[in-house]
Amino acid sequence: MEYALLVAPSANRVYAQSAPDLTRAELAAFSAGALGGALGPVERREFGGRPYLVFATENPLTEAELGVLGNLSSGFALFELAGEGLLRPVLTPPMATFDDDLISIPKYSGKTNEHFTQLLLNVTALASAWGADFGTRTFTVLDPVAGRGTTLNQALMYGWDALGIEVDGKDLEAYEAFLKTWLRRKRIKHSAEVTPLRREGRRLGRRFDVQLPTTSQRLTLFEADTVNARLLMKRQSTDLIVADLPYGVVHGSRTGGKLQRGPLDLLETALPGWVELIRPGGALGLSWNTHVAPREHALELLADAGLTPIEPALGFEHRVDQAINRDIVLARR
Ligand SMILES: C[S@@+](CC[C@H](N)C(=O)[O-])C[C@H]1O[C@@H](n2cnc3c(N)ncnc32)[C@H](O)[C@@H]1O
Repeated sequence: MEYALLVAPSANRVYAQSAPDLTRAELAAFSAGALGGALGPVERREFGGRPYLVFATENPLTEAELGVLGNLSSGFALFELAGEGLLRPVLTPPMATFDDDLISIPKYSGKTNEHFTQLLLNVTALASAWGADFGTRTFTVLDPVAGRGTTLNQALMYGWDALGIEVDGKDLEAYEAFLKTWLRRKRIKHSAEVTPLRREGRRLGRRFDVQLPTTSQRLTLFEADTVNARLLMKRQSTDLIVADLPYGVVHGSRTGGKLQRGPLDLLETALPGWVELIRPGGALGLSWNTHVAPREHALELLADAGLTPIEPALGFEHRVDQAINRDIVLARR
């Protein structure tokens, strides 16, 4: 059976240019991680002047497999190719625990593109030992540089549990304000509170805890320096770590109270703590700006921290703007 995937027109024009190639790499990750290699090679083809990604399978995709593919970050619609360029739409119901404005409403400078965030979360989950359970398993996700919560919201959308660490108190406040308002407006039963975060009598920052009893989901965002991650939670608290590292351009990353430029400095300092938080079999997915550090260096750091890099995680490199060229590395504990 042949299928054609229509790639979503993205709001961000720069990202839209790379979207077909990124989606092709993401499809390969879904095929290898969740679909037992069911998808053959993916090729780019045009129908009616629009780019599609075309792939073949030996057997028609099952309902469950179509549901998994419904979570492709830039997939817009899937069709069976019925010969002579005829496209027959097929249903691909995504994991949508909530209305999608949970993801699309927040807009702020420094936000990670939501399609890219979903892509990074997807490929990290697929790189874990539980990739084949994508679509049925509830993952716990930690974003250790969480900003105003794009990863956390995507995890909630999937029905998963979310943990975040962010050093900037203003981001915690903005996220708290957004999420509480959104939950209230949607009439979703919840409890949410911000409390001081103390360790050994010392005040580290604050924490924002949310519980959603209807879907049994939990979320915590810690206001703290991510190099102290191990002080915040128990060993093996998370299945996945997903991080869009600071780019070292606009607002350099902070470690030990000093402003430092290189995101890999931050990574090097924080990684040993992060690794302890991942359950064996869990995975780590990072994106960073390759203008400030080469890919080999990032992979070396992961290997030095005792993780097994998942290679090749190729085809994800793309231009964000003049100063930022982004890439992804994946590793498993
Ligand atoms: C690229 S942004 C991530 C944006 C986030 N994905 C979003 O969409 O809101 C990187 C974040 O890392 C945070 N950060 C930098 N150094 C940190 C540190 N030492 N501990 C915790 N967070 C840090 C920055 O404040 C920034 O919010």
